[in-house]
Amino acid sequence: MASKGPRPLVAGNWKMNGSLAMLREPRLLAAMLKDVRLKADVMVCPPAILIRRVKSVLKGSKIKVGGQDCHWNAAGAHTGDISADMLKEAGCTAVIVGHSERRANHGETDEIVARKARAVQKAGLKAIICIGETLEERKAGKTLDVVARQIKGSLPHESAASDTVIAYEPVWAIGTGLTPTTAEVAEVHALIRNELGGLMSNDGAGVRILYGGSVKPSNAGDLMSLPNVNGALVGGASLKAADFLGIIKVFA
Ligand code: PGA
Repeated sequence: MASKGPRPLVAGNWKMNGSLAMLREPRLLAAMLKDVRLKADVMVCPPAILIRRVKSVLKGSKIKVGGQDCHWNAAGAHTGDISADMLKEAGCTAVIVGHSERRANHGETDEIVARKARAVQKAGLKAIICIGETLEERKAGKTLDVVARQIKGSLPHESAASDTVIAYEPVWAIGTGLTPTTAEVAEVHALIRNELGGLMSNDGAGVRILYGGSVKPSNAGDLMSLPNVNGALVGGASLKAADFLGIIKVFA
């Protein structure tokens, strides 16, 4: 089902959802995936306070754990923040940076996102860098310009295919049940691949480009088979093991 290219990644972003009771979902997912041979990596990104618990529930499974955000510094006087090194010590292998909810609710600019992404890479983790246009920008025909500008501004110069993942998430598709057409997704992913080639030369071809925004079991097959779509960043549908499994199984 997957298109040719780098090994896909299906990452679940729990956002500010989760509890000790919800640990049953990753436990269930690990059990359901036990004997499934997957052609993709699977990851869950719970709130920071649950990372260690999720990690221990997933012990012995191939499911990886990631963080949802971090500070650009490794340590220091930053009340309420968390560093990439801390996430690494807790067992994370990746950190999402520049999610549109962080950009909108916390004023994160491309420059801030690039600094965070670099901190993640320097800690030895993969930076999952999120980009995507708003509905106004899409209606105004500015999608490709916006995405090109965001990728140029948010991608650290030192990025390598091994420590960088791009997630294209149209802001208007996140949590709304709306998705772009497959042609629209393919168009933006082709642009991103092209930009990566310019910015990273040969390494650009090996970077995973995820699609995110209302991915669910019913549309995952079509979206994941598009060229230059190397997996998904999943919000709402990652909270229930059965739904998340329905998406992951596209790569079985
Ligand atoms: P959604 O969220 O799957 O709930 O639309 C995606 C995301 O924000 O990463």
